[in-house]
Amino acid sequence: MNGISIEIKNLSKKFGELSILEDANISIDPGDFFAIVGKSGCGKSTLLRLITYLEKPTSGSILLDGKPVDRINSDVRFVFQDARILLWKNVLDNVILGSPTRSREDALWALKAVGLEGREKSWPIVLSGGQRQRLSLARAIVGKPKVLLLDEPLGALDALTRIEMQQLIEKLWKEQRFTAVLVTHDVAEAVTLANHVIVMDNKKIHKDIHVELARPREHNRDFAYYEEKILKYILKPKDTKGAEYVI
Ligand SMILES: Nc1ncnc2c1ncn2[C@@H]1O[C@H](COP(=O)(O)OP(=O)(O)OP(=O)(O)O)[C@@H](O)[C@H]1O
Ligand SMILES: [Mg+2]
Repeated sequence: MNGISIEIKNLSKKFGELSILEDANISIDPGDFFAIVGKSGCGKSTLLRLITYLEKPTSGSILLDGKPVDRINSDVRFVFQDARILLWKNVLDNVILGSPTRSREDALWALKAVGLEGREKSWPIVLSGGQRQRLSLARAIVGKPKVLLLDEPLGALDALTRIEMQQLIEKLWKEQRFTAVLVTHDVAEAVTLANHVIVMDNKKIHKDIHVELARPREHNRDFAYYEEKILKYILKPKDTKGAEYVI
């Protein structure tokens, strides 16, 4: 087990007068997989930025492995929707730059883990959208992080590539057992990947839904049960009928 616990205690965050989070409490076990869903602008990215210390709480605390977050920590890595890749560096050098040890061997291992073996010398510009996200993942896992934060990493990809990438994220998580926190607009994606789904709305953490389904998850009635349960907390009742599973 590589993952560590994340505890969020009575966390509040304001930007000036704008209140984003009020008295939020979340407890994530080492190696667990959490998803965060909620409407645009409700504060999902801000919550991830608080965990990485890119933002500081207005009040309350965040503990990683029982210790208060008081600096940017290389054990915590971030993957964003737009792959943040250096276009003037080749694939291998992009991963080496993400490695705390700058180790070529580690970078080759990470590229193999994400299925980009043989593409070391390619320029990022020639990679497809899915391959670029593989590269972002390689850069994030190369230092064997204890926490991986994923902020809508698959949002820009087509449906089939998304499914492939979900499988890849699940494989990496099973192999390395980092603690994963995924922000997504896609309720099906949350149910596919997470053990716990948190719904954020109106400055509150509304619900922590425990998804008790075997992996890999199949799209059956039990799956649909969780999708509906989550949607119930996101949508007003009048919107639920015929709504798409994307918010
Ligand atoms: N540095 C900042 N200064 C001021 N306001 C900010 C700052 N960062 C975020 N906000 C505001 O906080 C709110 C929450 O933003 P955040 O990016 O966390 O939302 P989100 O849930 O990730 O949305 P989306 O689903 O669209 O990515 C927004 O109203 C945003 O404008
Ligand atoms: Mg966001």
